[in-house]
Amino acid sequence: MDTRRTHRSRAAACGAALLLVAACAGSGSSQHTQQATTAAAVAVPRLDPAATAPLLARLDAALPAERLIEWRRHLHQHPELSNHEVETAKFVAARLREMGLEPKTGIARHGVTALIRGGKPGKTVALRADMDALPVTEEVDLPFRSTATATFEGKTVGVMHACGHDAHTAMLLAAAQALMAVRAELPGDVLLIFQPAEESVPESERPAGAEAMVLAGVLDQPKVSAIFGLHVMAGTRTGRIGWRRGPMMAAADRFEIIVEGRQTHGSKPWHGVDPIVVGSQIVTALQTIVSRQIDIVREPAVVTVGQFESGVRNNIIPERSRLVGTIRTFADDMQSDIHERIRRIAEETAAASGAKAHVTIERGYPVTANDAPLVDQMVPTLERLAGADTFETRKVTGAEDFSFYARRIPAMFIFLGITPEAKLTTADSNHSPRFEIDESALPMGARALAHLAVDWLAGEQARATPPAH
Ligand code: NI
Repeated sequence: MDTRRTHRSRAAACGAALLLVAACAGSGSSQHTQQATTAAAVAVPRLDPAATAPLLARLDAALPAERLIEWRRHLHQHPELSNHEVETAKFVAARLREMGLEPKTGIARHGVTALIRGGKPGKTVALRADMDALPVTEEVDLPFRSTATATFEGKTVGVMHACGHDAHTAMLLAAAQALMAVRAELPGDVLLIFQPAEESVPESERPAGAEAMVLAGVLDQPKVSAIFGLHVMAGTRTGRIGWRRGPMMAAADRFEIIVEGRQTHGSKPWHGVDPIVVGSQIVTALQTIVSRQIDIVREPAVVTVGQFESGVRNNIIPERSRLVGTIRTFADDMQSDIHERIRRIAEETAAASGAKAHVTIERGYPVTANDAPLVDQMVPTLERLAGADTFETRKVTGAEDFSFYARRIPAMFIFLGITPEAKLTTADSNHSPRFEIDESALPMGARALAHLAVDWLAGEQARATPPAH
């Protein structure tokens, strides 16, 4: 993934802990000024950052930096595929019990949650980590490299935490321990969500992952008012934290087109209908959706055909061909519109040659969209932590099932850089067998989660307590 450093206006830069944008009103003719005016109009009280500074200092001091790395290495060495996170869930629950928590297990198969009850009344905020690994054989030479194997779609495969979910789980455990150290002072509760099956599972196993956790009611009892999540990003410098308002990661849908022609001898094509030629015309015509038919200035989109299968030998024109592909979009209406266009192009291109196209589209994860007011409220927290290493990230065409939480309640997903400066141009991406994590980034990620939770709770408390006049 590539990212860029974006100039940040003074409105955000002047925000120390818990400083709501209202305090920055009048800081110039930036985009933030308008938001600042809006915030001032609803008279959101400003919380003095000094009020929570001692709490956050104690929280940081309690962060188990060494155990965080031990936990991550243990999880890395013992990866489990989506919906098979049995030992991972046991490990997580055991660590939570050691901290004095009472985890709930077996949610949506192997999900684990635990509630940190604050010593003061307030709302509930959730922090989420995903726990599953991928069918990838590790090629990184580490003392704790994975040699695990499993059966995936009938084949024996290597299993590897090639997307960094081992780090996500370890960082949330570390954040939990730090939060427990200041529990008595927390103005509200923090729900920890350790989620299985973020990587997509076969249609027969759905709903799974975040979708299943939401259906199981994790956001309802207790009622969760906001949620934060984090993903490590290879190719972004160690310790940098990326954020974004609105759509951040794409919706990912799968389509399949079966072209039915009429089989005949390869020497006499006029006796049949060639599904390879028709399929090729469909592949080409599908390219015009993004290049000619959608408003690419509004949101980008991707339509990719990743499989094209047909035929058995050189002199037979086959009966059918099969195209399978993926669609990436950033707005619900554009998603539905592109689905319609794929159907129309496939069916009518086939009809033009006397063939038939059967189109199936499976909706995958929805767009991961961050709540803009929540992002504006919380960016100062990230800037206090990471300073100039905080940046506004580009959209990412990968997908995330964090979107299912974000559809229900205000949510904010952030990226954490995990690649040392010297490897920025050569680092292999997430999902590669050579995917690597610079572990020195992990304490920053754990602190980011914990600070977001504390600052959000304190902000809500300030909102609920009108200032004395
Ligand atoms: Ni991932």
